Amino acid sequence: MPEAKSNADALLKSVMDNKTPESYSPGLEGVVAAKSKLCSIDGAAGKLYYMGYPIEEVVNGSATYEEVAYLFWHGRLPNVKELEAFKDEFSKLRTLPQQVMDFIKLLPHTCHPMDALRTIVSLLAAFDHNPERSPEANLNRAIALTVRFPTIVAAFHRLRQNQTPVEPDPKLSHAANFLYMLFGEKPDDTTAKVMDVAMVLHLDHEMNASTFSSLVTASTLSDMYSAISAGVGTLKGPLHGGANEAVLKMLLEIGDPARVETYVDDALAKKKKIMGFGHRMYKAYDPRARLLKEYARRASEKTKASRLFQITERIEEVMIQKKGKQGIFPNVDLYSGIIYHQMGIPTDIFTPIFAIARVAGWTAHVLEYWQENRLFRPNALYIGPAARKFPPLAQR
Ligand code: CMC
Repeated sequence: MPEAKSNADALLKSVMDNKTPESYSPGLEGVVAAKSKLCSIDGAAGKLYYMGYPIEEVVNGSATYEEVAYLFWHGRLPNVKELEAFKDEFSKLRTLPQQVMDFIKLLPHTCHPMDALRTIVSLLAAFDHNPERSPEANLNRAIALTVRFPTIVAAFHRLRQNQTPVEPDPKLSHAANFLYMLFGEKPDDTTAKVMDVAMVLHLDHEMNASTFSSLVTASTLSDMYSAISAGVGTLKGPLHGGANEAVLKMLLEIGDPARVETYVDDALAKKKKIMGFGHRMYKAYDPRARLLKEYARRASEKTKASRLFQITERIEEVMIQKKGKQGIFPNVDLYSGIIYHQMGIPTDIFTPIFAIARVAGWTAHVLEYWQENRLFRPNALYIGPAARKFPPLAQR
């Protein structure tokens, strides 16, 4: 307590002296807000690790989304038997309560799928009748939420097109089942694999804005549903997960590799951000973008999306030339959209796919944070008027 008071006094004095306290960091840049064993980033080298495993090895070692989610929730990789049992448990939880499906039907068809997802996550709290708040009960909530994200997104998408939602298929993997529920047709192995890789690459990313937002909510000892709906809402913004949707719109607007340089020059002159570039952590090429680029290249070779790929490669070239010195390079959102687009997925489902993948990361961080919970409550730097007399209404 005395220490807190002296911190507050020091802060007030520095404000009164018109000095910015050294601890003030806009956007909390460089602030270490929590300890975590889950994920680490070497931003200068462009490296990402899931519990110490380099992301390239995780992807090239063919780890599935279920396997990596297990790693995040249990702190170690499963063996063959454990993975089979886990996949079995995972696939059985996919169906939503009928009342929840009925509620999804009530949502306006014009609602953004991220708004639909955030709303339904919130609604699921009302159908959780277990008063238990133990780590085991919360792990079960984490698993059930993760399993159900694809069901929510696919059901909303089909209903808004006046189509019947597709029952989940317990024999399919998490990624394949999502595509099946979205389109009503089982994907081929290659398409399912590419979706699985995209989900693995988006599963976690240390203290990103949406994870932090989930943790802030969790730190008040609110509940898992509140924490995760906060994460969904935060991910939606175009500076975060919403960038993948914005990238595809930009590619379609540019329309031709020959127009890229003019587009970039115009945007930079107007101080506009080029979506899919730059990162708070990476001052080098985002390793997830490097991996996704190869999948996008392969997918585009076979389809009409090759022009979009050419435009993206050209933007990359131009941006690295103009902005690389400032540490601005492609991020994860640059190439993911082309992959989803060539699968026939509508643009407004791109950010929900990010959420479908990231929910395992959000929940793992919340479970970890609750082990040594402390309320998040930073300070604000007061820049308003000094203390003054309050004038009664009649005197104003
Ligand atoms: N295009 C052009 N200039 C940029 C970009 C960009 N994409 N990103 C950063 N800059 C410039 C920015 O204008 C500023 O320049 P100056 O110092 O001359 O004013 C400088 O770089 C620092 O930018 P900032 O926005 O203060 O840096 P930040 O650490 O807050 O930015 C970012 C991180 C992701 C918000 C930003 O790079 C951005 O807005 N990128 C575009 C949106 C995007 O692709 N977001 C997805 C991020 S990766 C997925 C995820 O995890 O969310």
